[in-house]
Amino acid sequence: MNEPRPPITILGTGALAMRFGAMLARAGHAVTLAGTWAEGLAAMGGRGIEVVEGHDGWRVDVATLSLALPANGANVSTGDVPPSPYLLVLVKSHQTPRLAPVAARLAAPDGLIVTLQNGLGNAECLAASAGPDRVAVGVTTLGAAVAGPGRVRVGGDGTVTIGRSAATAARVDALVDILVAAGIDAAATDDIAPTVWRKLAVNCAINPLTAYLGVPNGRLLDDPRTIALLHAAAAEVAAVAAALGIPLDADVAALAEAVAARTADNRSSMLQDTDRGAPTEIDAINGAVVRAGKVVGVETPVNAALWQAIVSLTADDAASPRPRDVGSLIEGAARCP
Ligand code: PAF
Repeated sequence: MNEPRPPITILGTGALAMRFGAMLARAGHAVTLAGTWAEGLAAMGGRGIEVVEGHDGWRVDVATLSLALPANGANVSTGDVPPSPYLLVLVKSHQTPRLAPVAARLAAPDGLIVTLQNGLGNAECLAASAGPDRVAVGVTTLGAAVAGPGRVRVGGDGTVTIGRSAATAARVDALVDILVAAGIDAAATDDIAPTVWRKLAVNCAINPLTAYLGVPNGRLLDDPRTIALLHAAAAEVAAVAAALGIPLDADVAALAEAVAARTADNRSSMLQDTDRGAPTEIDAINGAVVRAGKVVGVETPVNAALWQAIVSLTADDAASPRPRDVGSLIEGAARCP
């Protein structure tokens, strides 16, 4: 008789949370999506996750858990959801500090919490609540966009890479097998840092530029000035990584350009955030690079200007109508240290 498939909990209700949740549920796992988006949770609780792939679609049932913060400031309840052997964290980075204690309770004491989020700092934040031996860092390049509450449109194909440590290796390998069996191109590595920083370089280059200019990824390649900013942002990330002793083994400026071309029609995750007036991940992406650059003495003026531009854009959206001018970003970079 086949072994029962382990249950999996996903922290998040957005596009990637739905894409991972749907694929794992279709492979026979009991999947619970836990999050704070009331409409998304209600839709998934009623009719499962609807997946749109090109002109086709499919649907799969999942369980849901509402993590709404009680008005009286009490702890977020995890209801009667049993602690899970595997917890995938796919909430936006700014939610990690608030939800890290919840993640620690949703994962079994000997379970594995894997952050697949953008940016830096999420693993450290999760480990502060759950302990480092329960946390692993993953990087995914799978694409997805929210098509409505409980409805996800599949974007480009991509991969999942998860970092192993001596303490987590067996659980990471078991999770990789689960992901592969669910049709996800997954692998483990003993050194995740280069993969994290290569993706960070792409995110630092594409996400704030698309969000600031209000354009899909491919439009960045229409103007030599945005191409120059894209290259410069990615090159600064490579310089910081080199100073930290992290070998990227890639020309990340060329990589960012190639990703923008390959995902030309995508609206980046940061643009999707600014479009719906939600907080962005700018602090964990460009902000984290600027802070790391300061520590190792590497100047990051383009990342600093992009960080500032998105912070002021989201603080003052109504007062800064689109289209915004790429010239102001170039001036900003010249002013930033
Ligand atoms: O965050 C995103 O949107 C994606 O990581 C990327 C690669 C920039 C493509 O849109």
